[in-house]
Amino acid sequence: MARTCRRCRATDVVIELRRHNASFCKECFRHHVREQVRRAIDDFDMLVPGERVLVAVSGGKDSLALWDILLDLGYEADGLYLGLGIGEYSDSSGEATRTFAARRQARLVEIDLPTDHGFDIPTAAAVTKRVPCSACGLSKRHLFNSAARDGGYAVVATGHNLDDEAAVLLGNVLRWDADYLGRQQPVLPATDGFVRKVKPLVRLDEREMAAYCVLSGIDYIVEECPNAVGNKHLGYKEALNVIEDQSPGSKNSFYFGFLARAADRFNQDTAADQGALVACASCGSPTTGTVCAFCKLVEKVVQV
Ligand code: AMP
Ligand code: FES
Ligand code: ZN
Repeated sequence: MARTCRRCRATDVVIELRRHNASFCKECFRHHVREQVRRAIDDFDMLVPGERVLVAVSGGKDSLALWDILLDLGYEADGLYLGLGIGEYSDSSGEATRTFAARRQARLVEIDLPTDHGFDIPTAAAVTKRVPCSACGLSKRHLFNSAARDGGYAVVATGHNLDDEAAVLLGNVLRWDADYLGRQQPVLPATDGFVRKVKPLVRLDEREMAAYCVLSGIDYIVEECPNAVGNKHLGYKEALNVIEDQSPGSKNSFYFGFLARAADRFNQDTAADQGALVACASCGSPTTGTVCAFCKLVEKVVQV
């Protein structure tokens, strides 16, 4: 490890970042992480100063760190925690989120699937005979958006980091999924009935986010969702880690090179895929059918 901090030249360095060819002491590393978030927000016009942001917080390292950083950067950032009813995993993730909110005296909005909508993810998976992540992803997309609209937030921020985005990109490229490639942006602008979605951690990787939490005294849940074990996404991350280890910076150039030189080429594929949106007859959310996918899921699962 290089002996001195890149920013202040102190000798008590705590981390080496190979892709930046730099080492940092504790405070300069935390500054560096905040700067990466500030740059992502600026470069992609993610947030307008003064607007209220709803941060989707899972209790994991990325989203808790994101909330912490947005508060430090002066944004009016409230948290949104969605209780998925996934046993012990949901109990401890909710607890980590509440503890953080209390410590930072920040406002936390909570939605509990079992209490507020009458079902949990394991039941939805059993009834629909699909993997849990399918009902889970659908519920998250729907409830993040409706909670933001109901609470008067213009934007939802999620904790997706560089490893997440590069892994999703690799999966989309392996399948040449033009529709998804056209939508893989760190900012999805607001459209009729949908608030803006932003990913301010795209310039930071998993190891950096874990280090940020440890060095900032943020207690996060370390375990992954039990349903994620063995999924393709984790395999893509491992493959990219092997490449990154051999050539530091590969993940970064794969993802940001795509955004700069290829993403626009898929816009047409995405535009062609969108039907006209109308309000869901049951909940008012935008949908291409009469009833939105979330209300259909609730109808199917709650009747059982
Ligand atoms: P995941 O889909 O689990 O990879 O999580 C991606 C992002 O979605 C996280 O960084 C959070 O911003 C958000 N998220 C995931 N789970 C929850 C949850 N239960 N409640 C609120 N936000 C969540
Ligand atoms: Fe959704 Fe695991 S967090 S299925
Ligand atoms: Zn609906």
